[in-house]
Amino acid sequence: MTTHDRTAESGGAGIPGKPTSASRTTLSHIMTSNETNLLGTVHGGVIMKLVDDVAGAVAGRHSGGPAVTASMDEMAFLEPVRVGDLVHVKAQVNWTGRSSMEIGVRVLAERWNESRPATQVGSAYLVFAAVDEEGKPRPVPPVIPETDRDRRRYQEAQIRRTHRLARRRAIMELRQNRAAEGYDD
Ligand SMILES: CC(C)(COP(=O)(O)OP(=O)(O)OC[C@H]1O[C@@H](n2cnc3c(N)ncnc32)[C@H](O)[C@@H]1OP(=O)(O)O)[C@@H](O)C(=O)NCCC(=O)NCCS
Repeated sequence: MTTHDRTAESGGAGIPGKPTSASRTTLSHIMTSNETNLLGTVHGGVIMKLVDDVAGAVAGRHSGGPAVTASMDEMAFLEPVRVGDLVHVKAQVNWTGRSSMEIGVRVLAERWNESRPATQVGSAYLVFAAVDEEGKPRPVPPVIPETDRDRRRYQEAQIRRTHRLARRRAIMELRQNRAAEGYDD
């Protein structure tokens, strides 16, 4: 796909594209005992907040203004995170539509005082919508994937986008059909 094609995909707004690397961001945090669940490991919600924070930074940087979380899906927790772990939350724009962006996030953890390599402990995909002063969606620059990995992520994000839209449409149709049949649920 060419840069020209991607500009067309952004709704014809004619905004110049931005490379993936321009907004890629990492947020790092040492986990403390304030962040544990009843089992003594780090609460999933703490990790989800870091994920949302870094994805929001990426969306704001890419779109050049405010952006809000529209959805968060496929949040996977692969390994428990422990007190004393240095957590790195890495995020980039995987795909852009007209006003929405899919942000991919990887969560890595390493002991704060050891020099062993970090391991992946989680991942997530979030959709952010860029908004104007009134909170209405505004066009975003098309993302320009730079590496083979970026291009693979772009293609995978398109598949997720197709599935999200199809799922939403199917559920809306089901609800309309049930309402037409007289159900009030
Ligand atoms: C997200 C929001 C701006 C969408 O507004 P809207 O009037 O529904 O606008 P649209 O239907 O045109 O959607 C805008 C874009 O977001 C995408 N989008 C909207 N809801 C979505 C969802 N649930 N999942 C994935 N994408 C979504 C649309 O597909 C569209 O993408 P595109 O422009 O690239 O084609 C609006 O629902 C909102 O403000 N939500 C609250 C966001 C918020 O406060 N987040 C923080 C929660 S604490």
